[in-house]
Amino acid sequence: MERTQQVLTSLRPPRAQRLVVVMVGLPARGKTYIARRLSRYLSWLGYRTHLFNVGVRRRERIGAQQTHEFYDPANADGVTARRAMAHEVLTEMLGWLREGGEVAIYDATNHTRERRNMVRTACEREGHPVLFVESLCDDEEIIASTIREIKLKSPDYAGVDPEAAVRDFSARIAHYQATYETLDSWDGSFVKLVDVGREIVLHDLRGDLPGRLVRVLMNLHIVPRPVWLTRHGESECNLDGRIGGDPELTRRGERFAVRLVEFFDAHASRDDDVQVWTSALRRATQTARHLPAIPVVWRSLDEIDAGVFDGMTYAEIKAAHPDEFRRRQEDKLRYRYPRGESYEDVIQRLEPIIIELERQRSPTLVVTHRAVLRCLYAYFMDLAPETCTRLDVPLHTIIELTPNAYGCDVRKIPMDDPVVEVG
Ligand code: F6P
Repeated sequence: MERTQQVLTSLRPPRAQRLVVVMVGLPARGKTYIARRLSRYLSWLGYRTHLFNVGVRRRERIGAQQTHEFYDPANADGVTARRAMAHEVLTEMLGWLREGGEVAIYDATNHTRERRNMVRTACEREGHPVLFVESLCDDEEIIASTIREIKLKSPDYAGVDPEAAVRDFSARIAHYQATYETLDSWDGSFVKLVDVGREIVLHDLRGDLPGRLVRVLMNLHIVPRPVWLTRHGESECNLDGRIGGDPELTRRGERFAVRLVEFFDAHASRDDDVQVWTSALRRATQTARHLPAIPVVWRSLDEIDAGVFDGMTYAEIKAAHPDEFRRRQEDKLRYRYPRGESYEDVIQRLEPIIIELERQRSPTLVVTHRAVLRCLYAYFMDLAPETCTRLDVPLHTIIELTPNAYGCDVRKIPMDDPVVEVG
């Protein structure tokens, strides 16, 4: 019985899958950005994921400020030093996988067959499948903006005159270009992204995990836009602390629905095709009903299903089912309500919502519920699923998330009105 329960409540397949994702590409092609996005997605889904970055190791070992000559393939000392660091990080990664890690992301240029062969052979020798992810980009504007926005702000060029830094960095790219070999069928499984996903080439993908990663990669973009998350307005169940149900809004909740229109009008410019998404529950659709945009109603945004405890208060559950109550306190992420859901289940059903949210290039307002909002927030803020189940998410507060190259900017906007109910 215990075993069945364990398998059923796990997000991951019963036998842990292992995978090594190996990034490939010239400098300033967004490899680290892509690697971080994959890592955030996988960690959120519950995979033990870790990023192994060779550039970070180089800065630790020999200091950040190496000029382009260090990267010249004719510089034998540079070649030896770089190979040694790549090897060191690889060894560390294999050790981490041996100790129970599941998905390792190896972030370096890996721009020659010889280097890729070294990485792949070492991984496959220990039984770990390898997926190469190459980012190719010839769009001068994208490259220039990556250099400006990311490279010039990195420790490699701290305090260096920006023009000199661009010159040096361009020379560094040219050194890699001189020996660059793009992926081909010889490399095995790979995904090749051209110009941030304008074109995608897939080769010999096997298993469920690479397929999931392709869906993330296909929807990557770098257009900044906000995602606004809010709970529904106050409901009748909120007043007496009952969980679940399908209650109506209270008068205070209704006032929030009206204030939401003011927020929408103030923040959504006329040119933006703002999306409004709600759950299928009454308190959410009622909260969105005055908005000028027609909401898209998603069942998968419905609140966590409390199963047989739906409609009860926490005090009632604790009194009538103390063991269940305790089990939930002990492991809120994995605890599944009898005939209901766990937070892990909610994350699972939110996966298509995340992919769809990532795809959007215009602002999106999501009107949903406490547990669902916690899970969405955890994804954008790269929080471990364990920590998200107790996040404080008050009613009548809009959380504005703006994804950027490094992570996500967050702003909490309280929207409660000052009116005090009488009678
Ligand atoms: O109390 C409001 C509510 O949205 C319930 O419907 C839901 O069961 C609960 O919050 C989720 O929060 P927690 O996981 O902390 O019980």
